[in-house]
Amino acid sequence: MIHEGDPEETRQTAAIGSSRVFLRPISGGDQDEFVRLVRASVDLHHPWMSLPATPEEFQAYVRRFDDPESAQCLLVRVQDTGAMAGVININSIIRGRFQNGSLGYAAFAPTAGRGYMSEGLGLVLRHAFERLRLHRLEAQIQPENHASKRLVQRHGFRYEGCSPDLLFIDGAWRDHERWAITDAMAGMVSADPHPGRPVR
Ligand SMILES: CC(C)(COP(=O)(O)OP(=O)(O)OC[C@H]1O[C@@H](n2cnc3c(N)ncnc32)[C@H](O)[C@@H]1OP(=O)(O)O)[C@@H](O)C(=O)NCCC(=O)NCCS
Repeated sequence: MIHEGDPEETRQTAAIGSSRVFLRPISGGDQDEFVRLVRASVDLHHPWMSLPATPEEFQAYVRRFDDPESAQCLLVRVQDTGAMAGVININSIIRGRFQNGSLGYAAFAPTAGRGYMSEGLGLVLRHAFERLRLHRLEAQIQPENHASKRLVQRHGFRYEGCSPDLLFIDGAWRDHERWAITDAMAGMVSADPHPGRPVR
C-alpha cells in the first residue's frame, strides 16, 4: 500500500511499468500547487469534474482520504520535473465479497494530452490489484466524455452498461456508463487474496 510519507515505496510502484510518472498520495503540502492547477484547468474539467479550487475546499478534500482503507487520492507526477500531471482517486473501497474500488481522475491542463494520465492509470491498476489486492475497479463516465472513455479503453476496461441518473454532476443527476476492469482482465490476480475476502 502507498502511504503518505513513504516516497520510496511510492517510487517503487512507479518503477513498475512507467519511466515518466510516479504516484504520490496527496498531502496538505500539495495545496498551493493543486489549487493553482485546478484553477488553470477549469476549461478542461468542466462539465465533467469539479475539484477543490480554494485552500478551504482543498483541506476538506484531503480529509476525505484520511483512511486509506476507504479511499485513496494519488497524484500523478512527472519523473523529470516533479510536476503534478493529474490526480487519480480510488474511492469507495469495499472489501468482503466485492473487493471493489471506484475511480475518479482528472489531468491538469499544462501537461494534458501527453500520455501521463494513461501511464498514471497503469500504475494505479498495479497498485490497486497487486498491493491493495482489489478484485475490480470501476469508472463511471458520462456518455459524451470521450477523452475519459478513451483513457479506460486504452487499459482494457470493459463497458458494462449505462445507469440513468447515477451521479450528481454540474447541478443535475447525470446518466453514466459503467466501465470496469478486474484483476484477471489486467493479468494481475494476487496469489494471496486480501484477508477480507471470504474463502468461499
Ligand atoms: C480524461 C482525462 C483525464 C484524460 O487526460 P489526458 O491528459 O488526455 O490523458 P493522457 O495523458 O493519457 O493523454 C492521452 C492523449 O495524449 C496523447 N498522447 C500524446 N503523447 C502520448 C504518449 N506518449 N503516450 C500516450 N498517449 C499520448 C494520446 O494520443 C491521447 O490522445 P487521445 O485521447 O486523443 O487518443 C482528461 O481529459 C480530463 O482531465 N478530463 C476532465 C476530467 C474528467 O473527465 N475526468 C473523468 C470523469 S469520468
